[in-house]
Formats: sequence, C-alpha cells, structure tokens
Amino acid sequence: MKALVYYGPGKKAWEEKPKPVIQTATDAVVKILKTTICGTDLHIMKGDMPEVASGRVLGHEGVGVIEEVGSSVSNFKIGDHVIISCVTSCGKCDYCKKGMYSHCENGGWILGYMIDGCQAEYVRIPYADNSLYPIPAGADEEALVMLSDILPTGFECGVLNGQVKPGDTIAIVGAGPVGMAALLTSQFYTPAEIIVIDQDDNRLEVAKTFGATHTINSAKENAIDKVMEITNGKGVDTAIEAVGVPPTFELCQEIITAGGHIANIGVHGKSVVLHMEKLWDRNITITTRLVDTVTTPMLFKTVQSKKIEPKKLITHRFKLDQMMEAYETFGNAAKEKALKVILNNS
Ligand SMILES: NC(=O)c1ccc[n+]([C@@H]2O[C@H](COP(=O)([O-])OP(=O)(O)OC[C@H]3O[C@@H](n4cnc5c(N)ncnc54)[C@H](O)[C@@H]3O)[C@@H](O)[C@H]2O)c1
Ligand SMILES: [Zn+2]
Ligand SMILES: [Zn+2]
Repeated sequence: MKALVYYGPGKKAWEEKPKPVIQTATDAVVKILKTTICGTDLHIMKGDMPEVASGRVLGHEGVGVIEEVGSSVSNFKIGDHVIISCVTSCGKCDYCKKGMYSHCENGGWILGYMIDGCQAEYVRIPYADNSLYPIPAGADEEALVMLSDILPTGFECGVLNGQVKPGDTIAIVGAGPVGMAALLTSQFYTPAEIIVIDQDDNRLEVAKTFGATHTINSAKENAIDKVMEITNGKGVDTAIEAVGVPPTFELCQEIITAGGHIANIGVHGKSVVLHMEKLWDRNITITTRLVDTVTTPMLFKTVQSKKIEPKKLITHRFKLDQMMEAYETFGNAAKEKALKVILNNS
C-alpha cells in the first residue's frame, strides 16, 4: 500500500509500505476512505516532536471501512464504516475508567505518532471496540472526519477546560482548524463576545462567518491594546491558545481578566515564560489537555443534526495519492487560503 512516511524534520515521502495486519485480538484493520492533515503533523515535520521515529506513517484523523477484525472485536464487523478517533483507548485501565482516554496506559495518542497512522491506504487500529465510532448509513462522511480530532480538541481542551459560560467574553488565539472548532463549539454556551486572533486575514474572514464578533490580525495591530479596547480595559474571561508557540501563550497571559481561564490547546515544542510576577494575585486558572475524545459521541449528534457544520472548514480536496501536494497546500495555508484539506481514497 502507499503511505506518507516521516523521515525526520522536513523529510517525508509518499511511498510503498507493507499493508498492516491484525497483531492482537482487539485490533481492526481499516481501509481509509477519507483522511486529512493536522497542525500537529506540521509540528512533527518541523521537528517539534523528536520522539517520532524515522519511518513512521503519519496521520491520526479519518473515516474508513473495516477490512479485517481481530477475534475479540465485537462492536464492528467487516464492511462497517467508522470514524477513527485520534486517541486509542483500551477502556479498561485506570485512566480510561476516569474518562481520560488520552492517557490510556495501553494507548492514548499513539496513532501517527508512536504507531503507524492514517495517511495511508490502510491503518491498524488497536482496541478497535473503544477507538472507532460507527457511522450510520447515509451520513456525510466528509463532515465526520472533523470528529477524529479537531472538534473534540477545540471543545474539550478549549471550551470545556476554559469554562465558557453564557455572556462571557472569550478570545481564541489561532484560527486554524482547531481554533475554528473551538469557535464553533463555544457557541453551545452563547458567549457574548468572541474575539479571534491570528495573522492570516483569510482565516479571520472565515472566523467572522463562523460567529466571531471581533477579529484581530496580530501581525498588523497590537493585539493586547485591541483586546483591552474591546473589553473596556478588563480582558477576557477565557483565552483559548490554539497555536502552540511562546508568543501566543504569552498573549493569553496579557489579555486574561481577573478570575479568568487560560485554556491551552497548542502543542508546544519550546519553553514558555509564565509571568507569575503579574499573575500570582489574578485568581486565574491555567489548564492543559491532550484531547480525550470523550465528547465524540455527543459532538457526533450535533454534527448529524447540523447544529454545527464543520464541513464548512474543508477548503481543499485531493486524491489520497496527492498527499505531498496536500501537505504543500496545508503547509502554506495563508497563501493557499486553506483550512482543512480532505484526501479521498477512491
Ligand atoms: N491538545 C491537543 O490534544 C491537540 C490536538 C490537536 C491539535 N493540537 C494543536 O492545536 C494547534 C492548532 O492546530 P491547527 O490544526 O489549527 O493548526 P494550524 O497550524 O492550522 O493553525 C495555527 C494557526 O495559528 C496562527 N498563528 C501562527 N503563529 C501565530 C502568532 N504568533 N500569532 C497569532 N496566530 C498565529 C496561524 O496563522 C494558523 O492560522 C497546534 O499546535 C496543534 O498541534 C492540540
Ligand atoms: Zn491532530
Ligand atoms: Zn486504557
């Protein structure tokens, strides 16, 4: 089969790899129907995650059809269509029992990271019963790709951890697919003002159509001054960091109001300064989280009923074997006006 293989920072190839096989009774092999590229894959390509082995197949999002199941898989059979969760969970360990699938002792986020992932024709999914979600006949499978990672990530790490409440003023720093997912799902709680901050005018325009009440291009204007102007000098109740670089986490510290919540989503490859000399008496909460995907079934219902329409995040469609081109496009998102790219295996 063909797969996108990582060979160290800046090096990748679309090449032949052996088709995965069942290794243990709880595995399934899934034929990929649709997959995509995540900001996290760009972090890996940048060298932010040196723990990723050379030779690894990347990708942790997609939908597919069950090709083969291990003898103890009982929720799925050959031919079933499934959403692949970016997080693998056994459902049995202490962390899984707490609903913290991201730290499953037998899984967690391993797909396209510690084990071969979804940017391929086939993928092996460990603990298939707990790590795949069924797709009913007739569902819009493109929209459901957004449930593998970005919707639960924006919602769990950003909106839930940020404790967004009705009437709040919130800021979302980073208008990539993950920041947009936080933007869409924050509106379940009707915040009064949603300020989206990025350096990409196109993404900021899209954010407006998704419900942002204010947008700030932090490359062109002083984001701190602008946020203070909008909030009468108070700052925001929740600041969601959806980029993963030091300046954006520091920006969140500058714009948070007393008693506010800074909810980090971004994957960070470098140390960040925590300004305790300014924040020690501000009653704030800072949270970090690896997406647990515990809200996937709930979010699935909101997508099915069109309460949110994450399909609108898809800007580019490719054939699966145009993977290198898709990386070029997603890697030059501002120039290409790209948000989420879909790769179709047909
Ligand atoms: N915590 C988790 O479980 C989890 C899961 C998935 C993704 N992530 C992370 O979430 C982050 C966002 O993912 P994505 O797919 O949306 O990525 P992306 O690269 O598409 O988006 C990042 C956005 O940040 C903007 N940006 C870059 N530098 C900026 C700056 N200095 N100021 C303002 N904006 C800036 C870019 O223009 C871009 O729109 C990444 O760090 C990704 O690794 C975390
Ligand atoms: Zn991801
Ligand atoms: Zn577990």
